[in-house]
Amino acid sequence: MFFPEYRARRLRRGENLRRMVRETHLRVDDLIYPMFSAFGTDIRKEIASMPGIFQQSVEHIVAEAREVHALGIPAVILFGIPEAKDAVGQDAYSDTGIIQETIRAIKQAVPELTVITDVCLCEYTDHGHCGVIKDGDVDNDATLQLLAAEALSHARAGADMVAPSDMMDGRVAAIREILDANGFSHIPIMSYAVKYASAYYGPFRDAADSTPQFGDRRSYQMDPANRREALREATLDVQECADFLMVKPALAYLDILRDLHERFDLPLVAYNVSGEYSMVKAAARLGWVDHDRVMMETLVGMKRAGADLIITYHAKEAALLLKAR
Ligand code: PBG
Ligand code: ZN
Repeated sequence: MFFPEYRARRLRRGENLRRMVRETHLRVDDLIYPMFSAFGTDIRKEIASMPGIFQQSVEHIVAEAREVHALGIPAVILFGIPEAKDAVGQDAYSDTGIIQETIRAIKQAVPELTVITDVCLCEYTDHGHCGVIKDGDVDNDATLQLLAAEALSHARAGADMVAPSDMMDGRVAAIREILDANGFSHIPIMSYAVKYASAYYGPFRDAADSTPQFGDRRSYQMDPANRREALREATLDVQECADFLMVKPALAYLDILRDLHERFDLPLVAYNVSGEYSMVKAAARLGWVDHDRVMMETLVGMKRAGADLIITYHAKEAALLLKAR
């Protein structure tokens, strides 16, 4: 009979020892909470496919922002549901648009909370695409100017950081240039550098009312089968002076997170997207998995893969669990 000299189980005896040799830690500082701000008053509408997540008018957003801050979560990322949509998404870059008003309200009530804004046009266009349409497809260079105007308008309203999610070529440079030219050289850009054309965004499109009215997003978002292309996308954003790189979705793309973590030294963000959240909620409701354990295991897995920060609809629940530990 052979007895191994090294016994790995020695370090797994008891919770104290396991805590001492734990390699990856999820912290409340790692979490960013997404919120959906809807035009109107006294709106608080739960998203059917995302239990616990609401479309809310600004006074409810402010109340939740206070709660998020009290939990120790450092940042929120904002999405807007405007009063009206049109072909060029005017509300997105209006100084009195839904997001601009929301930024001002949050910064006034909870100035220490970091406000990140999603910069894209799909929530504001009547066709639901992430830019302006020419000949049946999104016109890259015409869209850049609108995205830049949107980012500038967010910064003017008091946003602490902007996060372009449109996947147009050159948008990080265009945004950097307009911010710098207008006295906002201190505002970081969190780039959705590697964003795949994913079915996991399904529930979000209900939440943000941003489903494309024709076609799909595959002419601008990445093919889920591609790994080396992710490195090219990230390289471009680094050259354009992005301050954070993001991979989205997260769960089916942990290899991409690992690749970017090894190749680049910028802070890396994982977006634990709507469909990933909804799957956990659905399975837990059916009694098929343990909600809290699956949630924490998923989040720590993203950190282990290389994420520094995680944008997640679970942020409040995870913060509560971390506090109770
Ligand atoms: C807008 C945007 C999307 C998400 C974040 N920003 C949707 C999309 O590209 O279709 C998805 C977030 C989620 O699914 O949680 N471009
Ligand atoms: Zn978009």
